[in-house]
Amino acid sequence: MRVQVPHERAPRERRVAATPETVGKLLKKQHEVVVEKDAGLAAGFPDAAYTEAGATVVEELAAHWGQADAVIGVRAPEPSQAAELKEGALLVGFLEPDRNLEMVKALRDAKVTSIAMELIPRITRAQSMDALSSQASLAGYKAALLAAAHLDKYFPLLMTAAGTIQPARAVIMGAGVAGLQAIATCRRLGATVEVSDIREAVREEVESLGGRFIDLPMEEKGEAEGGYAKQMSEDFLRKQREIVAERLTHADLAITTALIPGRPAPKLISEEMVKGMRPGAVIVDMAIARGGNCALAKPDEIVTAHGVTILAPSNVPATVPADASRLYARNVETLLRHLTDEGNSKLAALLDEEDEIAVGSLLTHGGEVRHGRTRDALAEA
Ligand code: NAI
Repeated sequence: MRVQVPHERAPRERRVAATPETVGKLLKKQHEVVVEKDAGLAAGFPDAAYTEAGATVVEELAAHWGQADAVIGVRAPEPSQAAELKEGALLVGFLEPDRNLEMVKALRDAKVTSIAMELIPRITRAQSMDALSSQASLAGYKAALLAAAHLDKYFPLLMTAAGTIQPARAVIMGAGVAGLQAIATCRRLGATVEVSDIREAVREEVESLGGRFIDLPMEEKGEAEGGYAKQMSEDFLRKQREIVAERLTHADLAITTALIPGRPAPKLISEEMVKGMRPGAVIVDMAIARGGNCALAKPDEIVTAHGVTILAPSNVPATVPADASRLYARNVETLLRHLTDEGNSKLAALLDEEDEIAVGSLLTHGGEVRHGRTRDALAEA
């Protein structure tokens, strides 16, 4: 197959979907790899490294979209590019169908087989393809560093000749993949960490990382199918805010990562709660791409309110582009190996036998939108 790798064009996107390492793996599988000029530069992979690995580097992919058997990207293409793909071509990326309905229509009409990386089921067999996890882990790590860089004090306990400095106190909300990595990083930097999550199942993981789990009145179960969080009642969220508000008055920083699949992010920190924090404290809202966990957060802006600094970076993995690309490219290459052989016939067989990974991640195929929620959204639109 001719596999093409575009230079990502979205603002602030610095990742790339193939690295020289994964190019080598693709070539071993008899694929031909075409990389757009400077595609990996912002992630630290110059064109020469791709050429050395055996890829062809082209000035502009624009003229080549129609020749691709597969396009592997990080973000969704423009609808006009999607429309240029040939029938039966494969497109892989974080396609965000809910935000890109025009692109979905173009993919459907062009009879492109598109796979959304974020739809890959979170099952053990698919762990090596789980790009949500690989990227969230990096994001959690970087969130802790961002908090440290903006905080007005040390993270660790320090005994100096001029006296003792108390460790920073962090509150982390949401202990999924990103939250757990934020806890681990804050702990490594020496902060004390308290954690709020609605899934009791994460209590043990939090404690094993040295965090303290904040007890909530769990009259409602926080777990939905597949181990994900469920939408909690407004009454529950109010009680949670009251409990966490008290903890925030003692905190130096808060990192929020709370999400509910398919829903806007829950509002966990109100303006009143920000007011209750000490001046100089920092909030890093990692849920901003889904509306944010903090009422005052603004995407990609640094807001100062009531003396508190509130950060809400919308694409944190792209700020660690080398390792984010290394991990993402491996996720994509593993997925391609799972889905394809020399042609696309393996995918058809996988769909026939209802392979959970192929069926779960499929967005469009054979002129149809195969992802239920996106099909409904298109019908409504
Ligand atoms: P996520 O990014 O969807 O959510 C982040 C966290 O926010 C979750 O822990 C959730 O419980 C929490 N949250 C939601 N509402 C909240 C509220 N009101 N207050 C506080 N916290 C709240 O989650 P992520 O990181 O994508 O993964 C969630 C779970 O999915 C994992 O812990 C695991 O059980 C499962 N998973 C399984 C994998 C596998 O088996 N291969 C791989 C990755 C995840």
